[in-house]
Amino acid sequence: MEDKRKRVVIDCDPGTDDCMALMLSIKHLDVVGIVAVGGNTGLKYTERNARFMTELCGRPAIPVYAGYDQPMFGKAVRAAYVHGESGLGKVVIDEPKKKLEAMHGVDYLIDTFMNNDDISLITLGPLTNVAQAILKEPRLRERIPEILCMGGSAIAGNYNAVAEFNIYVDPEAAKIVFESGIPIRMVGLNLTRQNSITMEDVEMMRSIDTKVSRFAAELLSFNAGKSGKCSICDACTVVWYIDPAIIKKSLMTHVDVETKGEFTRGMTVCDWRNHMGLDPKTDIEHGEACDIEFEMKPANVDVAMEFDIDRFKKLLFDTLRSYD
Ligand code: BDR
Ligand code: CA
Repeated sequence: MEDKRKRVVIDCDPGTDDCMALMLSIKHLDVVGIVAVGGNTGLKYTERNARFMTELCGRPAIPVYAGYDQPMFGKAVRAAYVHGESGLGKVVIDEPKKKLEAMHGVDYLIDTFMNNDDISLITLGPLTNVAQAILKEPRLRERIPEILCMGGSAIAGNYNAVAEFNIYVDPEAAKIVFESGIPIRMVGLNLTRQNSITMEDVEMMRSIDTKVSRFAAELLSFNAGKSGKCSICDACTVVWYIDPAIIKKSLMTHVDVETKGEFTRGMTVCDWRNHMGLDPKTDIEHGEACDIEFEMKPANVDVAMEFDIDRFKKLLFDTLRSYD
């Protein structure tokens, strides 16, 4: 029977929330391949965790490739505080039986997108692999139909006041990708912070009592255990392809990536001038637009703005129940 699900390649750095995103994607999308990148933790863990997730979710045939461990410039920044040293919080796993593919992740991206027209790219980590692929094969600018990216923010950051982790880790790579001309959907922290997985949710996952749900509960108790809640940013991202109604509103605008700022390195600078309301209390695009006479760069990114948390949680729990 023909598989009608949307075809995607996922570039990620699992990472607790990447694992949740993979769990959702493997069930609802046609995941043709996974590429690991160094980010939340080193590549030796992220590629292992990706292989583990294909096995846990019953799809060990999905090929997993390793890309770059280090950002294009400078020293790698990791997020052990959020994801644990291994990327899986306190969960300890055995080495998966599933083997890593021999081809480099960047060559896999090039090969896949040069030879297919109907595959979209989801990125859930630093954009190092994607930028390196574009530099090595510039025709990818015309070949990748769309990138759905967890990264950046329309407002505040997490790594610093304005930069989100995935972009902060490799801003030069992000700049190459955002300036590539490839259509981008951006799910930033402004969106993902509208989600909140509480300890109550974690206990509900545990009570579903399947292999996948018990694993999810263990992972997220590490994240939610700290402050009582967590956002699982990467899972909030992939749902744009799975159930687009969860993203209730998005806005096309121009986004630049700051690579030099003293305080703003890694910021996704969103140009909201065309969307600003006249009443400062009512936020972006909730008022009448100002008349702007300055020259503005064309919109290059569709920025997710409003999230349906109830619909998201229903999808999440239904999916956890559907495994096993
Ligand atoms: C992003 O950074 C990582 O820590 C998460 O996996 C997510 O991709 C959130 O800022
Ligand atoms: Ca991630």
